Amino acid sequence: MNKTELLYEGKAKKVYKTDNDECYIVDYKDDATAFNGLKKGTITGKGIVNNRMSNHMFKLLEAAGVPTHFVEELSERETAVRKVKIVPLEVIIRNIAAGSFSKRLGIAEGTKLACPVLEFCFKDDALGDPMVNEYHILATEIATKEEVEKLTKMAFRINEVMKDYFKTVGIELIDFKIEFGKTAEGEIILADEISPDTCRFWDSETMEKLDKDRFRRDLGGVEDAYLEVYRRLGLA
Ligand code: TMP
Repeated sequence: MNKTELLYEGKAKKVYKTDNDECYIVDYKDDATAFNGLKKGTITGKGIVNNRMSNHMFKLLEAAGVPTHFVEELSERETAVRKVKIVPLEVIIRNIAAGSFSKRLGIAEGTKLACPVLEFCFKDDALGDPMVNEYHILATEIATKEEVEKLTKMAFRINEVMKDYFKTVGIELIDFKIEFGKTAEGEIILADEISPDTCRFWDSETMEKLDKDRFRRDLGGVEDAYLEVYRRLGLA
């Protein structure tokens, strides 16, 4: 498979059209941003970690019955994925209070939640990805009721699989963001990435942060944190 044309360059990845009508190629960059692009930087080696880790997670989820866009890892930074139209929603699941949830509701980071929380944000950089509920989504026709039900069911299932898996490598899955895509046939599948950019990972024993919060909050040891997760997944 060969790249033919750059389709889209995002903050962390480039997406190319290919000579295969069914597939795109994703190229993971080391560029990092936070706060809707206000903070910019580089996390050396991040593209490799995020590419290989996402593929590892997609394979694990496929084995658990979750359809994903993963097709084939082509190189350290490049992967062939199924061509989809991204549903313009960030789907967030939270197991433990942190980040914007803690800030908005005044609940200390690290507080265990009585049940997982699902949030949707409308993907629109100019608007700063505002949080929306199911009524907003239906009223503005971002997705249909059936699609929202599907996303919800898949997101909770993904949470169960990932939470259990990360526990086995001494990591608490605090929260994460996923995105879904729609194939030409109208099937909803998991897309985008699953990495320390898009999840909060805390060491189960020390509660040390092993994710992009180290970059967002200038905590230092950013590269080491990404490599530690990579190592624990047996990818190093
Ligand atoms: P939040 O607490 O800042 O709302 O973040 C919730 C989760 O979503 C956290 O795991 C980080 C992830 N996330 C992204 O992947 N992209 C984003 O743009 C933001 C704001 C959060």
